[in-house]
Amino acid sequence: MSQLFNFSAGPAMLPVEVLKQAQEELLNWNGQGVSVMEISHRDPAYVHMAREAEQDLRDLLNVPDDYEVLFLQGGGRGQFSAVPQNIASPDATVDYLDTGIWSGFAIREAEKFVSRVNIAGQVQEGAKGKEIQSPKDWKLSENAAYFHYCPNETVDGIALHEIPDVKAPIVADMSSNILSEPLNVSKFGVIYAGAQKNIGPSGFAIAIVNKKLLGQPQKQVSSIMDYQLQAKDGSMYNTPNTFAWYLAGLVFKWLKAQGGLAAMGERNHRKAQLIYDFVDASDFYRNNINPAYRSIMNVPFQLADDKLDADFLAGAKKEGLLGLKGHRFVGGMRASIYNAMPVEGVEALLSYMADFERKLG
Ligand SMILES: Cc1ncc(COP(=O)(O)O)c(C=O)c1O
Repeated sequence: MSQLFNFSAGPAMLPVEVLKQAQEELLNWNGQGVSVMEISHRDPAYVHMAREAEQDLRDLLNVPDDYEVLFLQGGGRGQFSAVPQNIASPDATVDYLDTGIWSGFAIREAEKFVSRVNIAGQVQEGAKGKEIQSPKDWKLSENAAYFHYCPNETVDGIALHEIPDVKAPIVADMSSNILSEPLNVSKFGVIYAGAQKNIGPSGFAIAIVNKKLLGQPQKQVSSIMDYQLQAKDGSMYNTPNTFAWYLAGLVFKWLKAQGGLAAMGERNHRKAQLIYDFVDASDFYRNNINPAYRSIMNVPFQLADDKLDADFLAGAKKEGLLGLKGHRFVGGMRASIYNAMPVEGVEALLSYMADFERKLG
């Protein structure tokens, strides 16, 4: 078998250089004689590493000084409830774009904590495929505490590439597109992401919060979810996930060595375009998203005859192409091509897809 390429949507492929370094350091991290998981998060060596990881993330995303960078637990879904509890009062109205499966989960969670969740806009069927309603058709609330959207819907493969121009502070679930290309952080109130796609191990999460939004959490917010408390304690109010933080730090260093987010963005657009061009040129494979709204991280595609899906997946596995099965809610295939996926992985996938079509198309 040739080299393996893992197209899993998350937990997802990590850079091999990062995994090798973690392996080398596992039994003796930083000359401590023990692994990074076995020392106190208050140990000066650990604290130094943790702060360096935060600085590297700040450098990569050019995070302005008036933003807190928090390293939290509970993954992406943890933030679905942390956001309303921290930046909206129980009697508030909040606006949500409902663009796919993850937006839907975020909406249902927010409904527990505020009086009204207004669905400001949705996905619709257009002449060129599925698309997100144009901002001119959004129904925004007059006094929304915040506007929430998911710029990259991991399951549906639909993306909003422009940052919305709205009055309320913008909250973005960037679980599956954080660090994939340059970003103007100053446009956002809160950016959050579960870690298991472009950052590191699952269960870990990052929140980047404009300091203006801190300080008015709901009375009943649990301390572990309280942004202000976590900011005051340097994200160490409780014992953080020390290994995930360390691994995220290695990924940030790897990203810097790759040339930062401008280089990643260029590579990611190229990888995605290769697949979309191939699928669009074929009658055997299809993608039903309007090209202007296609994700550069998660590329769903369907075979002309879904009875061939199992054969396609079995053959792919034999070629070392893993994790291509679409989400159980939507079926079909999905190639997740996060930062760690090299162009060679995409080329290997396309070569397999062409072979499969020749044999069975
Ligand atoms: C866009 C998005 N938001 C939220 C989540 C949930 O993340 P977690 O499983 O870490 O709670 C995911 C998971 O895949 C996701 O893709």
